[in-house]
Amino acid sequence: MRQKTKSHLAVSKLTILAALLVPPVPPEFCNNEVNPMLDSGQDTETLLEVNNIEVIYNSVILVLKGVSLSVPKGGITALLGGNGAGKTTTLKAISNLLASERGEVTKGSVKYRGEDVHETDPADMVKRGVVQVMEGRHCFEHLTIEENLLTGAYTRKDGKGAIAADLEMVYNYFPRLRERRKSQAGYTSGGEQQMCAIGRALMSRPETILLDEPSMGLAPQLVEQIFGIVKSINESEGVSFLLAEQNTNVALRFAHYGYILESGRVVMDGPAAELRENPDVKEFYLGMSDDGRKSFRDVRSYRRRKRWLS
Ligand SMILES: Nc1ncnc2c1ncn2[C@@H]1O[C@H](COP(=O)(O)OP(=O)(O)OP(=O)(O)O)[C@@H](O)[C@H]1O
Ligand SMILES: [Mg+2]
Repeated sequence: MRQKTKSHLAVSKLTILAALLVPPVPPEFCNNEVNPMLDSGQDTETLLEVNNIEVIYNSVILVLKGVSLSVPKGGITALLGGNGAGKTTTLKAISNLLASERGEVTKGSVKYRGEDVHETDPADMVKRGVVQVMEGRHCFEHLTIEENLLTGAYTRKDGKGAIAADLEMVYNYFPRLRERRKSQAGYTSGGEQQMCAIGRALMSRPETILLDEPSMGLAPQLVEQIFGIVKSINESEGVSFLLAEQNTNVALRFAHYGYILESGRVVMDGPAAELRENPDVKEFYLGMSDDGRKSFRDVRSYRRRKRWLS
């Protein structure tokens, strides 16, 4: 229990340290245009490219076995898969937060805007505009909601007025946070803490948010609400998202493109609309099938892989 609290704090400090170093967002990141090519899976400017990465924990545990993916500017890209598939590990490999977990990228490369960043310090990664919202929310429990939000803007140099305007923007996206702004974060609900974690990331004016499992532990109605807000942040602020999620159903309704991870490998990818209609995805991840099978566990893995690869 004690150990858990300690590591929680360590991760939070690292994340916030990184968040504090984000420079003001360049004007081109604040456009309101929605790229129609994103929904059709056509080519558009690529921000993030992960090429065939391998990740090993504690020098021996091979977790990612050659993961490749790309995140286009202005898109919501979903990284899907069950428990232990490697979603969080992939996000931490991108934001360079693996070292604190004794993990290491041993093969492959991560490029952001064409530059190799897989050796980049986590704080420098944030300076480039990439912020991670950690799984499990990680608010500062003893600070109020508003103080938590302001930590995301701590080192911004664009003045109090710009920060106040962004605080107002966050409250407009999350009216619930406005109501709870004076409450100590530790006493707010899981949904409010998730909103606070996303809001804090927004306060740093990122170009790309790596959002880990926003639906975790939340009631379905709240999950819908939070995904709806993510979608409007994406469309109105031009923020790109890489969204790790077990909840395939909701993620594929809000994302433009999806990758499905299984045991550290991408086993399928495609435009979200196509994945939603794919018979294997329906059967194994959306719980729908013609022959009454309800879980992907009911079918041997090799058979699924054979069908996906054929
Ligand atoms: N610090 C670590 N040390 C050793 N193994 C780890 C560590 N972190 C994760 N793993 C292992 O790596 C694998 C992938 O874990 P990861 O957390 O990336 O999965 P995930 O897809 O995010 O799962 P979940 O949906 O449960 O969050 C799991 O088998 C997990 O046990
Ligand atoms: Mg995870």
